[in-house]
Amino acid sequence: MANNHLTGIGSESKQLATWYFTFAAILFGAQLLFGLVAAIQYVMPGFMFEVLDFSVARMLHINALVVWMVFAMFGAVYWLLPDETGIETVGIKIGKLLFWVFAAAIVVVVLVYLFIQVGPADEMSIWFIHEGREYIEAPRWADFGIVVVALGFVANLFLTGMKGKQTGIVTVLMADMIAFAGLYLCGMFFTDNISVDQYWWWWVIHLWVEATWEVYVGALAAYGLITMLGAHRKVVEMWLWIEVTMLFGSGILGMGHHYFWIGTPEYWWEIGALFSALEPLPLVAMFIHVLYDWGKTQGEQDAQGQELSVIRNKPAFTWFVLNAFGNFLGAGIWGFFHTLPQVNLYTHGTQFTSAHGHLAFFGAYATILIGMMYIAIQGTNGIKIMNHTRSSIWSVSLLSGGMMGMTVALTIAGYVQVLVSRAQMGATWAGYFDGQSGMWFAQAMDWRLIMGLVMFAGFALLAKDFLTTGKNPVHQR
Ligand code: HEM
Ligand code: HEM
Ligand SMILES: [Fe+2]
Repeated sequence: MANNHLTGIGSESKQLATWYFTFAAILFGAQLLFGLVAAIQYVMPGFMFEVLDFSVARMLHINALVVWMVFAMFGAVYWLLPDETGIETVGIKIGKLLFWVFAAAIVVVVLVYLFIQVGPADEMSIWFIHEGREYIEAPRWADFGIVVVALGFVANLFLTGMKGKQTGIVTVLMADMIAFAGLYLCGMFFTDNISVDQYWWWWVIHLWVEATWEVYVGALAAYGLITMLGAHRKVVEMWLWIEVTMLFGSGILGMGHHYFWIGTPEYWWEIGALFSALEPLPLVAMFIHVLYDWGKTQGEQDAQGQELSVIRNKPAFTWFVLNAFGNFLGAGIWGFFHTLPQVNLYTHGTQFTSAHGHLAFFGAYATILIGMMYIAIQGTNGIKIMNHTRSSIWSVSLLSGGMMGMTVALTIAGYVQVLVSRAQMGATWAGYFDGQSGMWFAQAMDWRLIMGLVMFAGFALLAKDFLTTGKNPVHQR
């Protein structure tokens, strides 16, 4: 990203976006490394014992995941805002300052996770080490910092949205980002009752990924289709509004699929079953959305007489198409598999959940955010038509092929656990260990590690592609 061609209206906002994307990409690499450590520990339990135990590696792996995605999501908003509103982002100086505050806070948090790791069971640990809540483990001082940064970001988005042109995409983003930031508050307090505590924790985890983040992806997909293919705004925005309604409708009550076994009233079985089963529908709509719009542009020309079916950014487009497939497969299919209480009774908390968690996060979010990074790289380097390079093709193939392989391995491992630990041995303590010592389970863990290495090779090529795009002759300027 060395050659900066950003000039004119919105260049400040776009520059800030590239900072966010760069930090996100670095954290993505860190996420994979800690995942590899945890995967090696499944195969060789003594690996890094008492240096970087499984619990710490796993925590770093999934917290880095959430944080890199939030960084990339903020970055994508700063990138598209000037294009949509037609003006420079309001409050961009504060936005830049907050980026550094955010990045510094994350670096400190990661160093504490790595070197202090755990503390005594008291308030001090919650304030300064971590809160011990899966996915959002940041210590309380950092929680407050994140709230300040999020408020600044939402304020910039609102002030810009209200001053500039109000497209459907910006309007949806404004409403969505308020909900996204507001939900974080539900993960910031403790209650003595663990059921009540888990109840609120799910308000962040489920309502983020199955409501606010999905709506966000709808808005990005709409923006991406207009930028890369010149899709008709009326058509993509109409679909976007339909998806917003469907996602909020099913996503909110679909939260019941996490209330089955945590001590909440039994009526959640019916509510959770019905509404979470409806959740894949908007994902199908999103999938059709991308293919339909692309089909419509075939043979048409834009105002300058350029063929619309010419894809202006092939690597980004590849990642966007993978997003449509991945979201549908990882969230829709793998999610639906275990969402009915009758099935979930057996699959709950097995490697099956992990299979779904991996494919859904990768398919629904990693893909489109990497796609947005490519759009930013095209803009920053002043490239008119961005073709695939060898590294861009290899990286997308290794990352998504590795992820699919990992999902299959984890699904097989989960199947063994369901059959042996749960069905045959009735979810007993002995059953738990029998399930994990079987040959099929052990081999699946080997395959997960191999597929993790494949993914890491894909990441290395992605990083190389990002860093060398400015010099690559295959792109038309
Ligand atoms: C992109 C959207 C989604 C993402 C990123 C996602 C991710 C995840 C993750 C990471 C977990 C594990 C949580 C934990 O650690 O306990 C989980 C659990 C679960 N997800 Fe999703 N999910 C998505 C969409 C869906 C959809 C659409 C459905 C249903 C149709 C679904 C059904 C479930 C169920 C039933 C569980 C609980 C599994 C268990 O009992 O162990 N998810 N999801
Ligand atoms: C090098 C590639 C990767 C490896 C080796 C890896 C390995 C692991 C391991 C060992 C765990 C702990 C599982 C357990 O507690 O039983 C884990 C959890 C998790 N990883 Fe990864 N991972 C990789 C890439 C990714 C990617 C790319 C994503 C998402 C985009 C991701 C999302 C998750 C999630 C959401 C969990 C928690 C799952 C749950 O509790 O159900 N991982 N990973
Ligand atoms: Fe959920």
